[in-house]
Amino acid sequence: MQRKILVTSALPYANGEIHLGHLLEYIQSDIWVRFQKMMGNECHYVCADDAHGTPIMLKADELDITPEELIKGVSERHQMDFKDFAINFSQYHSTHSDENREISANIFNKLNDAGYIKTRTISQAFDPEKQMFLPDRFIKGDCPKCGATDQYGDNCEVCGATYSPTELKNAKSAISGAIPITKDSEHYFFDLPQFEAQLKEWTHSGHLQDEISNKLAEWFEQGLQQWDISRDAPYFGFQIPGVENKYFYVWLDAPIGYMASFKKLCNEQSIDFDEYFNKDSKTELYHFIGKDIVYFHALFWPAILMGAEYRTPNAIFAHGFLTVNGQKMSKSRGTFIQARTYLENLNPECLRYYYAYKLSSKIDDIDLNLEDFKQRVNSDLVGKVVNIASRSTGFIVKKFNKTLSAYVIKQDLYNEFVAQGDNISKLYEARNYNQAMREIMKLADKANQYIDLHKPWQMAKEVNKQTQVHDVTSLAINLFRVLMTYLKPVLPVMAEYVEVFLNIDTLNWHDLKHPLTNHKINKFKPLMSRIEGTQINQVIESSKQNIQIIEKKNPGTEYNSN
Ligand code: 2FM
Ligand code: ZN
Repeated sequence: MQRKILVTSALPYANGEIHLGHLLEYIQSDIWVRFQKMMGNECHYVCADDAHGTPIMLKADELDITPEELIKGVSERHQMDFKDFAINFSQYHSTHSDENREISANIFNKLNDAGYIKTRTISQAFDPEKQMFLPDRFIKGDCPKCGATDQYGDNCEVCGATYSPTELKNAKSAISGAIPITKDSEHYFFDLPQFEAQLKEWTHSGHLQDEISNKLAEWFEQGLQQWDISRDAPYFGFQIPGVENKYFYVWLDAPIGYMASFKKLCNEQSIDFDEYFNKDSKTELYHFIGKDIVYFHALFWPAILMGAEYRTPNAIFAHGFLTVNGQKMSKSRGTFIQARTYLENLNPECLRYYYAYKLSSKIDDIDLNLEDFKQRVNSDLVGKVVNIASRSTGFIVKKFNKTLSAYVIKQDLYNEFVAQGDNISKLYEARNYNQAMREIMKLADKANQYIDLHKPWQMAKEVNKQTQVHDVTSLAINLFRVLMTYLKPVLPVMAEYVEVFLNIDTLNWHDLKHPLTNHKINKFKPLMSRIEGTQINQVIESSKQNIQIIEKKNPGTEYNSN
């Protein structure tokens, strides 16, 4: 039966460039979506720029442009990066959109009418010069525990202590340098504790990975708190309906942005939005996220959906963080690599493959070891997969009029390759891409062993062995077709070239039962070249330089941290 599936990836903030850490998630989700489509399911994949909040407002200020101008430029660059990495969104929108404004207001009103919104006056640090309330990370001072200077308002990077900004010694506004005063203001809260029972039930009903469920049990133990969903002006966001000078906190309208982006898609393509979001929806909804934003997606978000009487997600798929060469991405080491810097030097599908080779359904961190990356891609993709085609095609083209032989010489070998399809599709479905890649590479080894055994390049020299050359190389091409079909969710661009090369409409799981016989193929163009050490060095060098340029333009601003 055809499934109807909606998939989202976390929305990137609209004040920084896409980097290889972001791409781990987009590649993970894109592979899953492409796989679902290959299985014949209806699968929509939506995302958007996360465009609201204080850091975006301040960044625009600093650049002396409007927030709207800032988010427009960033969105264009984000979308170019995604396109070049073959991330195939059905819709890429912005949280600063009419659809999102409308749905956010609606949801707020529903929650309010149902008694889930409370108001209360709180005291906060206020910058008297800038005339604005200061989020914790815009207050700096000396650590109350160890005395380290220039620490953020919520935790000390030197001794690791956590505290509230009011405890900070010699506190200053990181924006104006003024000494903050304490000021009262009324805030709006989402009454999360009212959902405790429902959430406990939901979080233990198979919607979450085990590691995440355990984390949630800890949070339940600590007790759920009301969630502050309002911010005072000046703020770049949506005004709370009917309330002067108060805005939705960016984290309220961000997940609603998933719905808004899908709404736009529905409007454009006549898809039934309600079928996907009504309370008893039979469709499937999945959110791919990083493990740092589980609280928002596994507690706040389902509670908001419950409160506003929408369906809840089927599952939250969390992944771990990316490290590069075993460490946190680092600007000074040149391992804080932007998507664009990578693209200027390397083939995007190499990274897609390497991530697939590493990703599982677990939330362990993933290490991009650049030396291992080079060796893995060279050995698996160039040395194994592409090699099967490049060592066989020449014979078919030059000796056999580009036409594959009329039968499969070793049907059991071909059948063995096709039979693995079930197992490999189960591994994709379960997001165990690492195991899927290993199974595929085992088959690639087998195909190469088969060619090595028969040595068509030797047989070709013997007049009475021409039929055998034809049969062996034709089978090799057929095995290559099976492998490229299995790899298509990971290597969509290469798969397209292979479709042209094999002269077929599309590489399709269900067609594999029928090998290509008596079939004309096209000339073979090199599909992928080896990664050289110099390319990797260039990425590192350029990443170091990029950071220097950015720091020069915006001294002191950390990009991409909200
Ligand atoms: O953590 C982040 O980068 C957020 N911009 C993710 C938002 S995801 C969703 F909730 F919108
Ligand atoms: Zn300290």
